[in-house]
Amino acid sequence: MDINELKIKVDECKTLKDLNDLKVSLLGKKGPIQALMSKMGTIDKEKRAEYGQYVNNLKNEISDYIENRKVILEEEVLNKRLQEEKLDISLDGIDVNKGSKSIVGGVIDEICDIFVGMGYEVKEGPEVELDHYNFELLNVAKDHPARDMQDSFYISENTLLRTQTSPIQVRTLEKCNGKGPVKIICPGKVYRRDDDDATHSHQFTQIEGLVVDKNVTMSDLKGTLETLVRKMFGEKREIRFRSSFFPFTEPSVEVDVSCFNCEGKGCNICKGSGWIEILGAGMVHPNVLRMSGFDPEVYQGFAFGMGVERIAMLRYGITDIRHLYMNDKRVLKQFKTTK
Ligand code: PHE
Repeated sequence: MDINELKIKVDECKTLKDLNDLKVSLLGKKGPIQALMSKMGTIDKEKRAEYGQYVNNLKNEISDYIENRKVILEEEVLNKRLQEEKLDISLDGIDVNKGSKSIVGGVIDEICDIFVGMGYEVKEGPEVELDHYNFELLNVAKDHPARDMQDSFYISENTLLRTQTSPIQVRTLEKCNGKGPVKIICPGKVYRRDDDDATHSHQFTQIEGLVVDKNVTMSDLKGTLETLVRKMFGEKREIRFRSSFFPFTEPSVEVDVSCFNCEGKGCNICKGSGWIEILGAGMVHPNVLRMSGFDPEVYQGFAFGMGVERIAMLRYGITDIRHLYMNDKRVLKQFKTTK
């Protein structure tokens, strides 16, 4: 057997399969090496060891040669695959259009977070509300002139789209069986029969807060609102109370924040006054406490309410409330919220 001829055959194998087939035919039971082995018996005794050695060497040489070829072929296969599967990572990927939270949703979360940090619980309630909770338990009887302050969408004589989130507060008080403390923050959509323009919308969002406990005073209200505006509009903000009227609070106040744009010097945002109105607030009216089962001789409370869109508009310098509802993605992209 000519070892060099066998080696040429090995070299001629172009695939791993060919090589394996050749290996089986050369080293297998029916192959030439085995044939040489089986001749052992016919060899003279004294030459047998030498013969055995020779056949073994032949076998080893062929196996090694096949193994070397195998390594080369395997490398070829790998290189070919690498070549074929080459990725060009410098190409642009497909642009995934990732959504973001709405501006109003972001401001709601931010305000709720601030109050949750002060120990408030977030409460929600129905948007289709009973007149009883939306008005009557809030000290606005059927013939009360204050009903004109909030033009309403009635669904039936006693049901309406809530005009404020205050009904959530009386619903919560009613469940407390006259026992405080209560500390809640109530976000939600509200509806009023307003003509839509740059600053009015028939549907908008309010956040109201309520604290009822023993020994609650107006200075607690002031401290709480100061904390809120400083977190929302910066550490240097001041607030001021102006006397006002709401049927469910007494005394009632409008709350202004010192202008974050001009530091109080006067600019177009604060209309030259240095102050911006952002909230309504007051001490809970004894009638409201009484109607929800609390003894006003024992418990006092403060409440406040704000329009979320107004805060968002001030915050982001948006001049038309309708931008917040028009579903124009360019607006959302421009004002990606912090959350
Ligand atoms: N609910 C009032 C409104 O919509 C806001 C407010 C809430 C005022 C709580 C005072 C206290 O006008």
